[in-house]
Amino acid sequence: NAKLNQLAKNAGKLYFGTATDNGELNNTQYVSILSDRREFGQLTPANGMKWEYVEPEPGVFNYTDGSVVANLATKNHQLLRCHNLVWHSQLPDWVPNTNWTKETLKAALIDHVTHEARHWASQCYAWDVLNEALNEDGTYRNDTFYAVLGEEYIKIAFKAAAEADPTAKLYYNDYNIESPGPKSTAALGIVTMLQEAGLRIDGVGLQSHFIVGSTPTIDQQISNMKSFTDLGVDVAITELDIRLLLPSNATNLQQQSKDYEASVGACVQVEGCVGITVWDFWDPVSWVPGVFAGYGDADLWFANFTKHPAYYGVEAALKNG
Ligand code: G3I
Repeated sequence: NAKLNQLAKNAGKLYFGTATDNGELNNTQYVSILSDRREFGQLTPANGMKWEYVEPEPGVFNYTDGSVVANLATKNHQLLRCHNLVWHSQLPDWVPNTNWTKETLKAALIDHVTHEARHWASQCYAWDVLNEALNEDGTYRNDTFYAVLGEEYIKIAFKAAAEADPTAKLYYNDYNIESPGPKSTAALGIVTMLQEAGLRIDGVGLQSHFIVGSTPTIDQQISNMKSFTDLGVDVAITELDIRLLLPSNATNLQQQSKDYEASVGACVQVEGCVGITVWDFWDPVSWVPGVFAGYGDADLWFANFTKHPAYYGVEAALKNG
């Protein structure tokens, strides 16, 4: 019986992958599934490459946590999606708390992106250069980078990333851009803004953190993906999980399976959708219950390591589109 990454490759995709995190890697049953390249052809570190871990003090770099996942992917012959270089969240305190000028922040941003992207330059299939820069209405999030530098900070980050790692695919990554609407339109605007500036952007990551029973339809997801690929960039589903209101039962698990099938099926049907990553595959390590009270069971494997019905929904989508 073919497993998910094998099926994804048969469908013409580059990978079916998963996020993982350092704390989980002492569970041998978890690691044996994670490391099975027939199941997962790609890994994303859920935390270890974020700014607070990588540059906790100005100019002090620490690649320990990120390298654990990067090296595991290398050992397992899995692709690595590197996540992320610039984000408003999980920043060390010194970033929001410094009294920046345009010049000093530009220098700090270039320094961070350059050091980090160079460090893993041979290992990243793709970099999420910029994560979650948009508000729901499509305006820019007014974080430290935008407040000081305006839209220019996005160009600075992509330029530095392209110079530091000429081979990684450079992505903009966000949530709630999986169906047409103001935020997705604004993400299209980031792509064209960079292209018009002569800078490289290779793809857009559709995070796809969904809720059972209220995900975008397959047609909405397909037409949204095509609006990006029409600009000449790839898309990828980068953080797929579909949470349900606990407890799970036959009904909500069946709906979850249909919802996973629709998202994966959309990627299968769009040529420029290169792959699908789930935001971890095992319920006990999901970020969901800690953030959305009452919700959980968002992943493909239950706590006891049996598979959700949704595993078979993904399988069906990879086989049939
Ligand atoms: O590292 C500390 C540890 O030292 C401490 O003992 C522990 C106590 O709570 O916290 C640890 O940090 C946690 C970190 O995950 C590592 O486990 C943070 O509190 C926790 O907030 C953090 O959550 C992460 C979240 O991003 C933060 O925004 C999740 O694991 C991670 O899955 C999640 O991933 C994001 C993507 O990067 C971007 N898109 C949304 C996605 C889900 O929120």
